[in-house]
Amino acid sequence: MASSTLPILMVLVIAAVVFPVKTSGKNDVLDIAEANGAKEFSALARKSPYLKKLLESSAQSNGLTVFAFTDSAYASSPAAFKEFINSTDGLRFGIEYHVSLGLTTSKDLRNNLLLTSVFPSPMGGSSLPPQFIRINFYTLPNSEGELNSVQTVTATGAPIIHPDLQASNGIVHIIDKVMFPIPMGVNMPDFLKKDPRFSLLFSFLTKANLTGALATDPSKPLTIFAPNDAAFKKLPKAVVAKLANVTFLQEVLEYHVVNAALYAAGLYDNQKLAPLAGGTILVLIGPGGVFVDNEQVIQTDTTVVNGVIHEVSGVLIPPAK
Ligand SMILES: *[C@@H]1O[C@H](CO)[C@@H](O)[C@H](O)[C@H]1NC(C)=O
Ligand SMILES: *[C@@H]1O[C@H](CO)[C@@H](O)[C@H](O)[C@H]1NC(C)=O
Ligand SMILES: *[C@@H]1O[C@H](CO)[C@@H](O)[C@H](O)[C@H]1NC(C)=O
Repeated sequence: MASSTLPILMVLVIAAVVFPVKTSGKNDVLDIAEANGAKEFSALARKSPYLKKLLESSAQSNGLTVFAFTDSAYASSPAAFKEFINSTDGLRFGIEYHVSLGLTTSKDLRNNLLLTSVFPSPMGGSSLPPQFIRINFYTLPNSEGELNSVQTVTATGAPIIHPDLQASNGIVHIIDKVMFPIPMGVNMPDFLKKDPRFSLLFSFLTKANLTGALATDPSKPLTIFAPNDAAFKKLPKAVVAKLANVTFLQEVLEYHVVNAALYAAGLYDNQKLAPLAGGTILVLIGPGGVFVDNEQVIQTDTTVVNGVIHEVSGVLIPPAK
């Protein structure tokens, strides 16, 4: 039985790849997403005029690659995401960002691959430059704590849990987290400069002449555990006085930066990270959340062109050498 049906299935699969069919309304990327646990995603995407047009258009003969979040990912997404997509533009931006043109299968993926997102679309009226979906591969310990046993692949920090679903007009990868906040085309120092949460961090980075070092090429991404203003304000006076020493200040700031795009999905309990300053930062993850050197990460996974920003509520102080 299997031997007689297999060749037919293969022909169908190959035909779908070589001749992406105009949407029949039966098996397009949104139908496939809907049938695979991403009903909410499909419903939202059908409200986006640009995606609707792409789906209806036969011009997109190369097809689409859609990263569709599950309904449970949507349910547990931050209130800020639900609020964001509650407006016409937000809906368009938030959902378009999950789509790229052309067919990208799991075999095409590699660490730090950047896929061009359809956000900002020509219909978005936005002057933003092209935005990218960053792919990462992480090796995580298994439940016994053995390292190198579990591999996770993420798209802008969202784990891909069901790759390569074939649709008439593209490929669907099911992800179990929403991609949010969506990137706005700025690099790490520019983001920190503009975000009022990080005004003190940015002024210290400027004083330490580190803003240039944080503006790496997107192919050499960084992760910063970024202390917010409250974190600096609660530092003991003696430490603040020491920060006047620019060499010490540089050490402290470089102790918050890691040479990799480390989304939350790549962090695990008891992980030791090697910051630019040397030494190790200890990651602890428990019911209380994510902590680095005992300071709490209060917002994970802000994507910038050259990496990832995690907001932390305390300043990490490197141990005295
Ligand atoms: C969405 O917007 C409407 C008003 O436009 C408001 O009543 C509703 O509470 C909003 N929902 C969310 C989740 O923000
Ligand atoms: C500031 O940093 C840049 C690299 O980003 C370096 O080229 C420059 O020499 C530094 N300036 C000073 C005064 O150290
Ligand atoms: C400034 O900080 C550096 C690095 O921590 C240290 O080696 C140096 O002694 C400090 N200078 C002064 C004057 O305290």
